[in-house]
Amino acid sequence: MTDSRPVRITDLRRKKQAGEKITMLTAYDTPTARLLDGAGLDVLLVGDSVGMVMLGHDSTLPVTLDAMVHHTAAVGRGAVRALVVADMPFLSYQVTAAEAIRNAGRLLQEGGAAAVKLEGGRPVADVVKRLVDIGIPVMGHLGLRPQSVHQLGGYMRRGTETREAEAIIEDAAVLEAAGVFAVVLESIPAALARTITGQLRMPTIGIGAGPDCDGQVLVSADMLGLADRVPPFVRRYADLQGTIAAAARAFADDVRSGRFPEAAGRAALKRPAATRNAS
Ligand code: KIV
Repeated sequence: MTDSRPVRITDLRRKKQAGEKITMLTAYDTPTARLLDGAGLDVLLVGDSVGMVMLGHDSTLPVTLDAMVHHTAAVGRGAVRALVVADMPFLSYQVTAAEAIRNAGRLLQEGGAAAVKLEGGRPVADVVKRLVDIGIPVMGHLGLRPQSVHQLGGYMRRGTETREAEAIIEDAAVLEAAGVFAVVLESIPAALARTITGQLRMPTIGIGAGPDCDGQVLVSADMLGLADRVPPFVRRYADLQGTIAAAARAFADDVRSGRFPEAAGRAALKRPAATRNAS
């Protein structure tokens, strides 16, 4: 049975110590957040993947801070128990530490997030430390860093060569020292994720990083069957594209054939007495 207390960042460390897996899915709107929260997910990530998954962009780069605040607030209105973590979008934390603090502050103050996530290792360690020092919890993100897609040359797996694998291990240690409470490991070999997970006290949350991370995250649209193309590591738990398309076709058929809406007299007869009296 799921504990009904709100999840705190300290609970994630406790879960790692107890060997309990951490569950995280992305959410971008209130009804989805309500459903995922009710299903007992530990963490709802308002990912900047919203740009690709929901807004039709071909990368996360066009996502603005205003958009992230807007979606984070929507998720916050649906989440009762889950920890809400908001992605800091491209250029909202790389320019100066002062800007990063103000921008992260907006995600907490206006968006209602409990923590922020940002991509990168050593180059962002000072910013992470400043945020953590003033009380803003930070989740790291290493491996495939979608905001660096142009520099990386695409959305390929990372850390398959020794030099890059060692750099990711070093980045993870630096992030832990800077104070992050958890780190996402995206699209790296399972053996590398296992090594990092074993070396850190903070939890690792994997996506395409094998089974040995302390938790797992997926983009909800991918696992719900709402996306056209998904990475090979995704497991589809539902076919919402099929369900929505069938419902839309059934509605259109009913309207065209006159089966919907029902004639006023017949609809009123079918409604319960209490509803009839109220209207
Ligand atoms: O933006 C996002 O959805 C993410 C996940 C892929 C971890 O960062």
